[in-house]
Amino acid sequence: MVLIYLLSPLAALFLYLCYRVLVAPRFSVLRNLPGPPVLEWFGNHLQHVLKSMSSSSNDMGGRSGIRGLGPWDDRLLTLDPVSFSHIVKNTAIYEKPWQSRTLITSLIGCGMLSAEGLVHKRQRRVALPAFSAQNMRSLVEISFNKGIQLRDAWMDLISSETELAARIDVCQWLSRVTFDVIGLAGFDYSFNSIKDETNELFIAYRDMFEIVISQSTVFRTASLHIPADYQPAPDETVRTVDRCQEVIHRIAGRLIQEKKEKLSEGEKSGDPYDGRDLLTLLLKSNAAADLEPEQRISDDDILNNINTFMFAGSDTSSLSMTWTLYLLAQNPDIQERLRAELLSVAQEFPRDLSELTEDQVHSLHTALSGLPFLHNVTRESLRLIPPLHSTLRIATQDDEIPTMYPVHDRDGTVNENRRSFIMPKGTVVHLSVEAFNLDKDVWGEDAWEFNPDRWDNLPELVQQYPWHFSNILTFSAGPRASTHLSLKYRN
Ligand code: HEM
Repeated sequence: MVLIYLLSPLAALFLYLCYRVLVAPRFSVLRNLPGPPVLEWFGNHLQHVLKSMSSSSNDMGGRSGIRGLGPWDDRLLTLDPVSFSHIVKNTAIYEKPWQSRTLITSLIGCGMLSAEGLVHKRQRRVALPAFSAQNMRSLVEISFNKGIQLRDAWMDLISSETELAARIDVCQWLSRVTFDVIGLAGFDYSFNSIKDETNELFIAYRDMFEIVISQSTVFRTASLHIPADYQPAPDETVRTVDRCQEVIHRIAGRLIQEKKEKLSEGEKSGDPYDGRDLLTLLLKSNAAADLEPEQRISDDDILNNINTFMFAGSDTSSLSMTWTLYLLAQNPDIQERLRAELLSVAQEFPRDLSELTEDQVHSLHTALSGLPFLHNVTRESLRLIPPLHSTLRIATQDDEIPTMYPVHDRDGTVNENRRSFIMPKGTVVHLSVEAFNLDKDVWGEDAWEFNPDRWDNLPELVQQYPWHFSNILTFSAGPRASTHLSLKYRN
């Protein structure tokens, strides 16, 4: 009897897997789309798609059927800007697949990155005021001071080196800087990780993000399909995540309570608390008188979104800065031009930047924001090496997807008059940011090169692209684009 009890769910699981791997793919409409052949039975196209320079070949009319992790994972890959835009804008139809959402939620809770539908709308409505241009401006000083601390730390390292050439792990240092900045800007908390890396909360976030990123995607996704009763005993990853989450809930939970007390004391005394960090702004926006009670979010949601800012904002920012420095090191002539432009501004300010007054910091920031070559270098680096390669969506109902290019069929026929195709419910769409940013048909033959000057004379097609940050997709697009630039979408 016990054996039957144990075996029947296993048998059901076995049959389900056979259906997913052997039967269902045969009926997938994606198999009728143009696309590269699969060479092995368990093979996939991910290596090809994730390889930066090959992911942008757009010779199948902008859409193809590819295989994700294995034979059970057919995906639509679209390189057609109109289709892409349709998919990211229609968040009511296209959601993130439950596998991605479960993985993110198990780590940082259900914040904006993984929430869907009304929950997502509610969270985003409360969070967006915190990202207004005025509030972002008040964070300039934090970034500026951390920049100075980093410079000093590097200078100390260089001068204390006994060898001729000092070795600096730029990526690791910049990661500490972004943690520090988001800690202060996000919840008025000092990780102080540029000075040393011993802060308990800093270690908890760092260990949690590192261990999950280092795990194989296939293994993590496969484990999601195993019913709770049959999950293997907690391994090193699960134990680390549990330990880190305990620290985060204890410390960040306390910070939320402290902020709430400050806000309520300020209200009672008639001297409102004026913290400018994202946590304070989120709490204020959540308590705003014009917000209906059902639109407010819970303390847990607030904590999940603070975690989300740490997760979504730290590695992305530090990686893009690291790559920018790498590209400059590889292109000394461009580095020289940028340096000359920066020095032209520096002359107007005191030599010792740590002596700048608050007003001077802001005028320096305004001056830097207006430098055309700096702007070009930043956009070009973000275009060429986007920190997030791609993202996934799943159709929650049948849909007709519009296209910019004529529709190609698998046998090679091109229907010049057809500018849409039908995608059934359940289709997974692979949205490749990098493929768009590097498409030679759009950006020109030098699309894979670092050429900041291209921004002075963009191809016409690029200018027609429907994305709202500098014609590139690096921050995604639509109502789920990266929060700091999507004020336009107040859904
Ligand atoms: C170079 C820096 C950054 C890049 C390239 C970047 C890129 C992106 C991309 C591509 C997405 C869409 C993800 C998806 O659809 O799966 C996203 C979402 C998001 N980003 Fe960023 N991001 C950056 C910095 C930041 C920072 C500094 C923050 C906040 C402190 C942030 C907060 C978020 C949030 C909350 C979302 C989820 C938005 C939603 O689904 O409503 N990001 N980011």
